[in-house]
Amino acid sequence: MTDASPPLLDLILARRSVSPRFLVEPTPTAEQLGLILRAAAAAPDHKSLRPYRFILIPPERRGDLATAFREAKTEQDPGAPAAEIERSGEKAYRGAMLLAVVLRVVRDHPRVSVSDQMLAAGAAIENMLLAAMTLGYAGCLRSGISATSRRVRLALGISGDEELAAFLMLGTPAKTPLPREDAIDGLLSTWE
Ligand SMILES: Cc1cc2nc3c(=O)[nH]c(=O)nc-3n(C[C@H](O)[C@H](O)[C@H](O)COP(=O)(O)O)c2cc1C
Repeated sequence: MTDASPPLLDLILARRSVSPRFLVEPTPTAEQLGLILRAAAAAPDHKSLRPYRFILIPPERRGDLATAFREAKTEQDPGAPAAEIERSGEKAYRGAMLLAVVLRVVRDHPRVSVSDQMLAAGAAIENMLLAAMTLGYAGCLRSGISATSRRVRLALGISGDEELAAFLMLGTPAKTPLPREDAIDGLLSTWE
């Protein structure tokens, strides 16, 4: 946190995703990525299980990810036209910094439910997005069919006990997202 950082609540209220094609260079430095990961680890986490991990996909591996995306598309939709398969591969190049979000949930933990672990992972990701914002970056999450694909999981070395939840993209926003409309209707009721 620096003196120039906006107050936390302002930052949270202003958070918007920026579409991957508008996330450009520069991306977080190694030191900044360390801070973003510390923000993830600062999220509430029942019994500190860390039911998540992240895989950084460096620029030189984007081509391999594109191959995995194309294979996934072909496997899931064998009749897809070639142009559509090509487009699936192009998604691997979006977002200036690309991280795979891996869930490593313990299904039969005696004390910590699966939903506790999922919530811990979600809290960690939100902390990462907010931390990236404080550093002047933006981000977004994308899952899509690629995240559920066995091919993509295998390519990234994700084990059978783990799940590829989504891709987290970070970068400098090339476009200012529209402010959010306040909408808290239905969020709260009082137990009567
Ligand atoms: C785990 C997760 C996966 C997501 N995957 C997609 C996706 O594949 N495609 C998409 O358009 N939005 C996806 N979203 C939603 C966007 O990332 C984004 O949150 C949404 O468009 C709302 O924008 P906002 O974050 O500015 O409120 C996903 C969100 C989450 C939490």
